[in-house]
Amino acid sequence: MEKTSSENPQNTCIIFSLKDETAGALANFLKLFDAHNVNLMHIESRSSTRLPGYEFFVECDTTSGNLGMAIENLKERCNYFNIISRDYKDNVATVPWFPRRIRDLDRFANQILSYGAELDSDHPGFTDEVYRNRRKYFADIAFNYRHGQPLPRVDYTKEEIDTWGVVFNKLVTLYKTHACREHNHVFPLLIDNCGYRADNIPQLEDVSNFLKDCTGFTLRPVAGLLSSRDFLAGLAFRVFHSTQYIRHSSKPLYTPEPDVCHELLGHVPLFADQAFAQFCQEIGLASLGAPDSYIEQLATCFWFTVEFGLCRQEGDLKAYGAGLLSSFGELEYCLSDKPELREFEPAKTGLQEYPITEYQPIYYVANSFDEAKEKLKKYADLIPRPFGVRYNAYTQSIEILDSKPQVENLMHNLNMEFQTLHNAFRKLKV
Ligand SMILES: [Fe+2]
Repeated sequence: MEKTSSENPQNTCIIFSLKDETAGALANFLKLFDAHNVNLMHIESRSSTRLPGYEFFVECDTTSGNLGMAIENLKERCNYFNIISRDYKDNVATVPWFPRRIRDLDRFANQILSYGAELDSDHPGFTDEVYRNRRKYFADIAFNYRHGQPLPRVDYTKEEIDTWGVVFNKLVTLYKTHACREHNHVFPLLIDNCGYRADNIPQLEDVSNFLKDCTGFTLRPVAGLLSSRDFLAGLAFRVFHSTQYIRHSSKPLYTPEPDVCHELLGHVPLFADQAFAQFCQEIGLASLGAPDSYIEQLATCFWFTVEFGLCRQEGDLKAYGAGLLSSFGELEYCLSDKPELREFEPAKTGLQEYPITEYQPIYYVANSFDEAKEKLKKYADLIPRPFGVRYNAYTQSIEILDSKPQVENLMHNLNMEFQTLHNAFRKLKV
């Protein structure tokens, strides 16, 4: 059963199983919403993974009726009941809303803090009408994008390609000595497969398809600045929200915000690495349903790793953060003796303040992506949340793990994996 879908992520979502599954029980149950004047925006039913029988998902309009009273009455008739809500600070809901299916990312795609076409007065393109119109064009592409569609291809202008060329040519001179092993390993593949060249701005669609083959990561265009909660939630699905416009041509080596140079040269190569992709997804999974204070700490961890992280490789320091790999000046500076270096420890790193418009005074160093991931997983265990989460890549959805049958099912799946491992191991020994 599926009723009309709402685009409003402010609504409260309730997942429940009924004690009474006889015909008409659901209809009677739904009448309780009506009795408290609560409008239902969306209803779905699925086979339950927690209990024998069915599970229902309803989305309620929180602006109408008395949802609190309705919930009190409804709970008594359920043997499973969970509330997920954007508007979780009231006393009704317990867990902040998060996307459960990959297509739910459409719901917050346009909940942006500022539209990409709005420029600050100190932006290099502020007085350039042509540039501003161009930014609006890119913002509109992202605004209209929906999950499952191909990423729109863009005819970049000569001026835009020239800007890209300046950035590209400068940065490639530093990568061999300054970038981490993983970045240098993937970069030639991007040249061969995705059109990475000084005279060509790669298309997000080609890059996204390449990443999907490597690690399952995909890109989706973003119309402006997302909240940290929404941006991090995308990572749980291995989805990266990417800009598509380019910085202003008057200052090719400076940009006050992420642009396509930052995404394609800084972020993309690392998303093709398995261990790094897992690390990013862990940050995303940890963020789902987490309280605001933890979201802030996770976003800070993201800043000091995915954006500005350094790592140790064969006794040398190398850069893996996208903010470094896309900035000629800071890439040189970060490996000089000027900045302070500290070990990446999520609980401490997550509390560190940082400037956003100048070079970082402090960088955090990881020994490997696997080690960083393990540390993050341990840290994430501290986040108060009444359930575990797991990404199911087959259904591209988040499983909310809070029942024995689900854990048993997970054990069964792991057992199958062990058998595959055992079998492969035996063959290796032959
Ligand atoms: Fe970034």
